[in-house]
Amino acid sequence: MAEHAAQAGSGAMIARVMLSEFRSYAALDLHVDGRLVVLTGANGAGKTNLLEALSTMAPGRGLRGARLSDLARALPGEEGARSWSVGATVRSGFGDTQLGVGYMPEAGDGGQAKRVVRIDGEPVSSPAALAERLRLVWLIPAMDRLFHDGAAERRRFLDRLITSSDPAHARRWGAYEIAMRERISALKNGAGGRWLDALERTMAETAVAVAASRREGTKRLVAAMIDVKTSAFPMADIAVAGAVEAMLEAMPAVEAEDRFAVTLANQRAIDSEMGRTASGPHLSDLVVRHREKGREARACSTGEQKALLIRLVLAGAAVPAAGAPDALVLLLDEIAAHLDEGRRRALFDEVDALGVQVWMTGTDRSAFSALEGRAQFLRVGDGAVRA
Ligand SMILES: Nc1ncnc2c1ncn2[C@@H]1O[C@H](COP(=O)(O)OP(=O)(O)OP(=O)(O)O)[C@@H](O)[C@H]1O
Ligand SMILES: [Mg+2]
Repeated sequence: MAEHAAQAGSGAMIARVMLSEFRSYAALDLHVDGRLVVLTGANGAGKTNLLEALSTMAPGRGLRGARLSDLARALPGEEGARSWSVGATVRSGFGDTQLGVGYMPEAGDGGQAKRVVRIDGEPVSSPAALAERLRLVWLIPAMDRLFHDGAAERRRFLDRLITSSDPAHARRWGAYEIAMRERISALKNGAGGRWLDALERTMAETAVAVAASRREGTKRLVAAMIDVKTSAFPMADIAVAGAVEAMLEAMPAVEAEDRFAVTLANQRAIDSEMGRTASGPHLSDLVVRHREKGREARACSTGEQKALLIRLVLAGAAVPAAGAPDALVLLLDEIAAHLDEGRRRALFDEVDALGVQVWMTGTDRSAFSALEGRAQFLRVGDGAVRA
């Protein structure tokens, strides 16, 4: 496996993590080396919190989907919003880069709360800039419900996987969302046809761009899955179901833009009444099938669903990405929990073969014994992390 799965690995990694007032951590300064990272500790020790801290460096909400204000360390008897920060040193062949994310209540111009992102000390305007420095891919227990959850969860899962190998996807998505919001408020304010036409044109262009990068990203994921010739995890067939994606399948991009702009113009009355946009890439769904079983993932067993997810996430981490950063970090929360001994060993081998930095958590160190000598084992507890 090692020979074909190692494209994504370039040795770039997170070398140091610094937390301040983040969840259960008052302060943490953790140095790690390039090997796999295994975090063990009792329930409630702070393992997931540490992975969550790393995940704040991806665009969008972190791995628990929490609000920024909820990430601050809550002290008993203390009310009100507090600030927190997460810093990471990303080390590659080109040297070190310092990434920082922080939350400051009431720091914005109007006294509103603000997320601050810094790269090498310089503030950057958009969290999407972080995706250009660090690729983050994660799998957490809550995703066991992915195939039963609504389309929104699956869509976000796909968009995150795609963004990790195509950082511009997050910017395209952001541009679409802004145009969509502006159009809804323009409809509410009774804006004129010209202005609505312009907003719908922007929406159509960005929607088709989003659909196109989903299509390309999906292809790259499938190629990465096929590339791993022997995997303990099943091959997944994946497709994006959505109105604009279907247009893009059926016609050239410019025509799809025109078609979607017409759709938007025709649904102004409905959208205005509902206060949201009735069709578009914000409603698309990710459809996953278990190839060998010939069955949709939602009809597969719990174990099969987990295995499909693992295959997809490993593919997300294996996609060689031109234009994406070297540093790829894979976060696997409680990964050993539902796997039998054989699958666990297979997972460790496949993860090791990726050649990227992987952070894994579990309550039980013995579940990771197959990694002895290949990983650094860190013990989490009492707001600290020790070797
Ligand atoms: N905002 C917060 N401020 C302070 N503590 C918090 C905050 N949010 C969560 N915690 C606490 O942090 C502790 C560690 O949580 P975490 O989810 O990281 O545990 P864990 O090690 O992953 O445990 P498990 O094995 O059960 O998954 C928990 O006791 C939780 O209640
Ligand atoms: Mg946990």
